[in-house]
Amino acid sequence: MEELLFDTPVAVVDLDKLEKNIEQMAALCRARGIALRPHIKSHKIPEIALAQLKAGAIGITAAKLGEAEEMARAGVKDIFIANQITGPAKLKRLAALAAGIKLSVGVDSWRNARELDQIARETGLVLDVLVEIDTGLHRCGLEPGPQVIELAKKLRERPSLHLKGIFTHAGHAYGARGPAQVEEIGRDEGQVMAQLARQLKAAGTPVEVVSVGSTPTARHAAQVPGVTELRPGNYVFYDAIQLALGVAAVGNCALTVRATVISRPAPDRAVIDAGSKALNLDKGAHGASLVRGFGIVLGRPGLTIERLSEEHGILALDPAEILDVGDVVEIIPNHACTVINLFDTVLGTRKGKAAEVLRVAARGKSR
Ligand SMILES: Cc1ncc(COP(=O)(O)O)c(C=O)c1O
Repeated sequence: MEELLFDTPVAVVDLDKLEKNIEQMAALCRARGIALRPHIKSHKIPEIALAQLKAGAIGITAAKLGEAEEMARAGVKDIFIANQITGPAKLKRLAALAAGIKLSVGVDSWRNARELDQIARETGLVLDVLVEIDTGLHRCGLEPGPQVIELAKKLRERPSLHLKGIFTHAGHAYGARGPAQVEEIGRDEGQVMAQLARQLKAAGTPVEVVSVGSTPTARHAAQVPGVTELRPGNYVFYDAIQLALGVAAVGNCALTVRATVISRPAPDRAVIDAGSKALNLDKGAHGASLVRGFGIVLGRPGLTIERLSEEHGILALDPAEILDVGDVVEIIPNHACTVINLFDTVLGTRKGKAAEVLRVAARGKSR
């Protein structure tokens, strides 16, 4: 392996922890008898997607067409794009992808449904679609209610579209004030969706897939009868935001950023070579986050990553801390999913030793 690949700042994945995280989520789904379709936007690495499938996932979820294309190239055969795909250029790519693999896509408007129907008819496909439901995040998705039944009925009338299911993402759990509220949001996510599925059935538009999930809510939503599929993403790595929510422990965190101290300009200040272009300024997207600083320096509670400029991380030191230029620190980032998107490669380790280099193949695939 090239020396450059180990030099800091470097993203490091503890492969043993990663495999354990993958297995634990698979075991949860097996125990509940529900399908696992992990979201790969968290790692963007085909080898990790293939490991998730090997551990029992039925397919994967992607946010972007480009991510899905990259995963299909690596051999993934069943992909759900949990997002709205619109506009001629993307629809053409969607149809090309759907011709080669089992592909499904989100929809939450009749206008978008008509575009999907048109491209499916033009290319002789039947496109699987899942209606997105808003269970509280207030991003995309229809509010549960008659508007869902109305859209479902219209979708049913289109022979080129197959209404496969409904899906939601309770991302507002990231704004929760602690584990109890996370649990409440997770149960609610499952219950709202299961009830909606019953209403759809009663209205003559039954759905086979009721898909839910975020990493914080997964284990709670999975308890609700009627939920058929879980789509967590971040759980492969976990991160400081999950720690703050009480979802994981430090020992579960599989992704770290390794950085070197480059300056000790004052007794209470050190500077590392990882700034916002390695750690990002992310403190959590959906609500007031409980994190402190811009990551957790492993084994060094007296160090706080107080500020980031692009290429510098500014650490505040407790007086007892000893840290010198050239020292290397290991950081659990606040948000693993956005950190991954900053690196071309990650260094896979086992028992602290370099084991392999993984290419973040779907990095930057935001179209
Ligand atoms: C639609 C959708 N499904 C699933 C997930 C996975 O959630 P998490 O990253 O919390 O595991 C996300 C994350 O953003 C998402 O947007």
